[in-house]
Amino acid sequence: MLRTIMSVSAAAAIALTAFAVSAPVNAALHALSPEEAHAVRSDAMKKMGGTMRTLGGLTDQQAMVDAANVYVETFANMANWFPEGSGVGEVEGSLALPAIWDQPEEFAAEITKAQEAAAALLAAAEAGDTATFAAAPRSVLGPVCGECHMSFRQNPQ
Ligand code: HEC
Repeated sequence: MLRTIMSVSAAAAIALTAFAVSAPVNAALHALSPEEAHAVRSDAMKKMGGTMRTLGGLTDQQAMVDAANVYVETFANMANWFPEGSGVGEVEGSLALPAIWDQPEEFAAEITKAQEAAAALLAAAEAGDTATFAAAPRSVLGPVCGECHMSFRQNPQ
């Protein structure tokens, strides 16, 4: 009986995860309006920021892999979340600087760096390397967040 309950909830958890993963991918299939794009990227960025604060405390390997995948998935989709017209002054609350559209190659290069950092984090998680993982906010991930924000995000007031 207990086993039945557990397998049902495991299936539900898998279904929920599949939904959570596929939602942003589906959102990318139709072109996002500037308002939608700002909302999607803002939620994803906040999730990355919140997850960042948990990394140092994770020791369970599956939890480490799941946390790393937040970054892998976000950076895999990020290029779809900056349609023209979604910058600062164009969408309420947006802090996305015009440089994103004026220097698209530089912006794309920052996304690539972030993808590499996320892949390194996932590798550390899969290797059970808790030391590298715990240091990630300062070493692996933090610098790529900061570097992109420095050039492409207006400082929050
Ligand atoms: C390739 C560039 C880039 C990278 C890499 C990046 N960001 Fe951002 N981030 C932005 C931009 C641009 C904005 C402003 C988006 C907006 O206002 O619509 C932003 C906004 C944010 C916000 C504010 C969201 C809100 O609406 O309140 C947070 C939090 C954030 N980023 C966290 C992170 C973290 C943590 C990382 C690294 C793990 C990261 N970002 C990596 C470009 C980037």
